[in-house]
Amino acid sequence: MAQTASLPPTILVIIGAAGDLTRRKLIPALYNLYLDRQLPERFAIVGVARRPMDDDAFRDRLREGVASFSRRGIVDEASWRAFAGGVSYLSEDVLHPASGLALNGRLAAIEQEWDLRANRIHYLAVPPQMMEPSAAMLQRLGVCRDCAHDRLVVEKPFGRDLASARELNRFLGELFVESQIYRIDHYLGKETVQNILAFRFANSLFEPIWNRRYIDQVQITVAETVGVEERGDYYDRAGALRDMVQNHLLQLLCLVAMEPPISFAADDVRNKKVDVLRAIRPFHPDAIHRVAVRGQYRRGIVLGRDVRGYREEPKVAPDSTTETFAAFTFHLDNWRWQGVPFYLRTGKRMPAKVSEINVLFHEPPHQFFPSAAVESWQPNRIVIRIQPEEGIGTRIQVKQPGTRMLLGTAEMRFRYHEAFRTPAPEAYETLLLDVIRGDATLFMRADQIESAWQAVSPILEAWESVPTAGFSEYAAGSWGPEAADLMVARQRHSWLQPSAVQE
Ligand code: BG6
Repeated sequence: MAQTASLPPTILVIIGAAGDLTRRKLIPALYNLYLDRQLPERFAIVGVARRPMDDDAFRDRLREGVASFSRRGIVDEASWRAFAGGVSYLSEDVLHPASGLALNGRLAAIEQEWDLRANRIHYLAVPPQMMEPSAAMLQRLGVCRDCAHDRLVVEKPFGRDLASARELNRFLGELFVESQIYRIDHYLGKETVQNILAFRFANSLFEPIWNRRYIDQVQITVAETVGVEERGDYYDRAGALRDMVQNHLLQLLCLVAMEPPISFAADDVRNKKVDVLRAIRPFHPDAIHRVAVRGQYRRGIVLGRDVRGYREEPKVAPDSTTETFAAFTFHLDNWRWQGVPFYLRTGKRMPAKVSEINVLFHEPPHQFFPSAAVESWQPNRIVIRIQPEEGIGTRIQVKQPGTRMLLGTAEMRFRYHEAFRTPAPEAYETLLLDVIRGDATLFMRADQIESAWQAVSPILEAWESVPTAGFSEYAAGSWGPEAADLMVARQRHSWLQPSAVQE
């Protein structure tokens, strides 16, 4: 299957390739790119992990992953065989002093066959504690030395607090130059997330009203129905704040709140995002309970199924106080957003899997309709649905049909699958192709990661110093603890339940 001739010959090395990410996300994404003829003509994948396995066993594992998790599955045997022909595996223990020699040899053999020096992408899909040893191995071998062509992709979590993120940035910064480092936040690869930029800045309709004069509040909800599945050991040390808020939710906040960049160049876009993170009003330690809520799911019913409580999940401490739900009120201290609350919440074992941004507008300055006409009046709202059913809707007030003047709410809606009949690529497809092309716009820069950690640090510290403070449980299948409702009610607001908008 002919691929893209304009892309440079590339070898993708996945370190930690025996893990779930490779078979669930990376290989399905790469196989889809292959089917769409978007990979470089010369492209090879080398999986590296400690687990002993030969090439065939590795390919079988990947095949099963594509069949189960890819949006398309295995389309046909011939395409899978052709794709898998470029995949090989090496068993290496990065902690061993002689590690990497086999990898070096494999890279050299591929390049010898191609008769050129390929671009090399090294994807660190390893647990946090293996990040530094893996990067050090690459550096020791010199396999990622060419700044213009060699890249390093670093998966989240990037550190577990500000100090460790700084330390990891410092460590990587000594081994590689910043332009080589691609820190992944897969939310940035999602179609609708990228569409926030297009919506805001490719239309002159919305930008003039995108500020405190017209906007009353912004709500960002990222709800999941899943629990922690097999990841209890990781999750119990992370919690929702580290796992979702510091990265995915703050990125959504940045895209909604950022100023227009000068160009679409990576640094221009990222500078504007960093400005948002730096504008987050610091949380005062004494007031944290008023603006930050945490909860943990107990037993309950999700999508009609009985599910166990978090503390009963495998590899979770039976007395754990790790939060599986978190909600916050953020304020941005800048000209555009002064006084507008940004409510963010995320949780596992919620009633629906839905990620949505609701932008609510002020009431009209003067309401001259008779009171009976406006009984069901609702504020204007823009709903950006990230998943599922990606799209954008606006809620407006209209006259209800009939002989009397009665107002009602109507929706103008754009849905991706209706407007464009082609399926949207998965986030990892977009992101992997960007790394191959060398475009870092959708990746996190060192200072961006640190600013995000800085913003949430006071909450992390407050929660860790008193693990039971403000901690409450919620039934699996509910929208989280009551404290989250009280938090917004203090400002006479209430959460919009996405299911009501789902229709
Ligand atoms: C990951 C988190 O980054 O994002 C998971 O570690 C979470 O806990 C996942 O389930 C959610 O991603 P998505 O794309 O399913 O919304």
